[in-house]
Amino acid sequence: MRIVYVVGTRPNFVKTAPVIAALRERLPGGRHALVHTGQHYDRAMSAIFVEELGVPAPDHMLEVGSGSHAQQTARVMERLEPVLAEERPDLVIVPGDVNSTLAAALTAAKLRIPVAHVESGLRSFDRTMPEELNRIVADQLSDHLFLHCQDAADNLRAEGVAEERMHFVGNTMIDTLVALEERFRAAGAATRLGVEPGACALVTLHRPALVDGPLLAETVVQLAALAREMPVVFPVHPRTRKMMETVESDHPGLLLCEPLGYLDFLSLLADAGAVLTDSGGIQEETTYLGIPCFTLRDNTERPITITAGTNTLLGLDPTAIAQIPSALTKRPAKRPDPPPLWDGHASERIADVLTS
Ligand code: UD1
Repeated sequence: MRIVYVVGTRPNFVKTAPVIAALRERLPGGRHALVHTGQHYDRAMSAIFVEELGVPAPDHMLEVGSGSHAQQTARVMERLEPVLAEERPDLVIVPGDVNSTLAAALTAAKLRIPVAHVESGLRSFDRTMPEELNRIVADQLSDHLFLHCQDAADNLRAEGVAEERMHFVGNTMIDTLVALEERFRAAGAATRLGVEPGACALVTLHRPALVDGPLLAETVVQLAALAREMPVVFPVHPRTRKMMETVESDHPGLLLCEPLGYLDFLSLLADAGAVLTDSGGIQEETTYLGIPCFTLRDNTERPITITAGTNTLLGLDPTAIAQIPSALTKRPAKRPDPPPLWDGHASERIADVLTS
């Protein structure tokens, strides 16, 4: 069996690493070719993940870089097509919902190569999000849809997807977290940054709806106010960094830093008193770890994180950040159980399906 895995962005590495490991173990004589599209290319957004997650070095680097959505998608398609012609895979595996996911699914489907989509069926029902369009198209084109929650099956059924294409396997991002738990618990990132474990708010923001427009300045003002209540650590994504240059961000108590490697990030996350984010993956990681998460968005494609009781949807208005300190006093004492099949074995189930 010949398999091509296509990754491009920071969260893609985290979702794909355990799938590659599980399939390599099942199919030691098979060809496992890793394609890195280069959608993310800074060391902190890319190479450090390859090193920390034990992903093999990519076999093909497409180096597409940044650009408009059409440019990025088109470049991946143009550069991936000859790679697929050379590799002649029996299967292409794509994770998540980024532009690289869409481009790889479309390129493979047009070459009539079967496609497997990891993290299928999530929907925010907000077509202004580029990721929502990527999810819908990738799911329509994929032959094997790997789901990490039951809501995803309902969403796919509503779009007419046949039952036999769907496989509820669990969450491969949580596989990676579980595999790294001993290492990140020992990493001590909070102490190194000079904040007390358990006390700080960890912030990540990168979505265009929040950071590319006027909401960013008000968000920073609100974070500075929060920093008067508790230390605020904010590793800044490159997209956000560019936009931060246009707003006043020098506030005491607000600890800005470069994007962190995955071990340091998970270490801080596990030691956070609260998390404020617009990321999808972080809503899931906090659910698994039982950390209170506040999501600065109007919607989420991951409602299971809300029903689990760890995630609160604040909306897109940054003034809602002021609610965090009082909300923290009302949290349930008991850490909720993780959602079904978020147990560290999702990738093995994927390997079972694909090799049976
Ligand atoms: C992309 C995904 C988003 C995902 C996020 C994870 C799409 C449409 N968006 O958003 O769903 O949540 O990755 O991080 O695919 N840049 C750098 N260095 C890098 C990468 C990006 O400086 O290594 C800068 C560039 O200025 C670039 C901007 O960040 O223009 C945005 O990068 P891009 O890949 O377009 O989207 P993200 O915002 O990272």
